[in-house]
Amino acid sequence: MNRPYIFCHMITSIDGKIDGTHKQIPERGLNAKDFYHIAFGENSYYQVDAWLSGRATSEAGFTKGKTPSVDENAALVPEGDYIAETDLSKYYVSVDPSGKLGWESSNLQYRDTQAHIIEVLTEKANNGYKALLRELNISYIIAGKETLDYELLMEKLKNTFHIETLMLGGGGVLNWSFIQAGLCDEVSILMAPFADGSASTHALFQTKEGLSEDIPVTFDLEHVEKRDNGGVWLRYKVKK
Ligand SMILES: NC(=O)c1ccc[n+]([C@@H]2O[C@H](COP(=O)([O-])OP(=O)(O)OC[C@H]3O[C@@H](n4cnc5c(N)ncnc54)[C@H](OP(=O)(O)O)[C@@H]3O)[C@@H](O)[C@H]2O)c1
Repeated sequence: MNRPYIFCHMITSIDGKIDGTHKQIPERGLNAKDFYHIAFGENSYYQVDAWLSGRATSEAGFTKGKTPSVDENAALVPEGDYIAETDLSKYYVSVDPSGKLGWESSNLQYRDTQAHIIEVLTEKANNGYKALLRELNISYIIAGKETLDYELLMEKLKNTFHIETLMLGGGGVLNWSFIQAGLCDEVSILMAPFADGSASTHALFQTKEGLSEDIPVTFDLEHVEKRDNGGVWLRYKVKK
């Protein structure tokens, strides 16, 4: 498959959780900064062309649960993808198969990093939503009828947007579905020194019915590093 190099980069508690009440403590903030600098900003270890997130992560981190103001009577948009920008240095790729996210502009800001948004839709997304994205100048790719066509998505990210290195940026559902689909070469975890013991919060990897299964995957340990602020940086290659 003609695709970018794909790594997953996440910050977790020592019990492998990616959210929870621990997010409010100062230790989380210090480690989140370290996590950012591994993949973003000047002198980062990774050179990321784009990072990809699931719909729930975009909702929690960026659109803050807003619903899109869709005009159901919008004029029919042309068929196919909408490519607003190419050859930028940073893209945020948002997997939102039905078109639920309430974006309000075509760029987002993550700390010092600005990125152009690429929405990944399926044919389930309606005309009004696509018209709204066009109005906002947000690129969109249609990849699949009802479910995500991974191969088509990868081909478009690589050939149209020239994305060579793609980061899986969560959440657990997105990460695991890509690992199960064989679309992850490496996993990078900043395990930070806290936990909250919650039984209801999200883990680094999670199955979701219809998207992924619990087929075990093994990893080769490549790197272990003690970081400032009590974090441990682990890097694994995904065994094929
Ligand atoms: N600690 C960290 O580094 C970190 C990083 C990122 C996120 N997070 C946290 O993670 C939590 C959200 O994680 P989550 O696992 O619940 O959700 P998620 O992976 O962000 O989003 C899941 C949703 O994305 C869409 N999706 C993902 N993979 C898909 C695939 N292969 N095919 C089709 N659709 C796909 C589906 O949307 P539909 O339901 O619309 O079909 C799915 O229900 C948030 O609390 C966030 O703050 C933490």
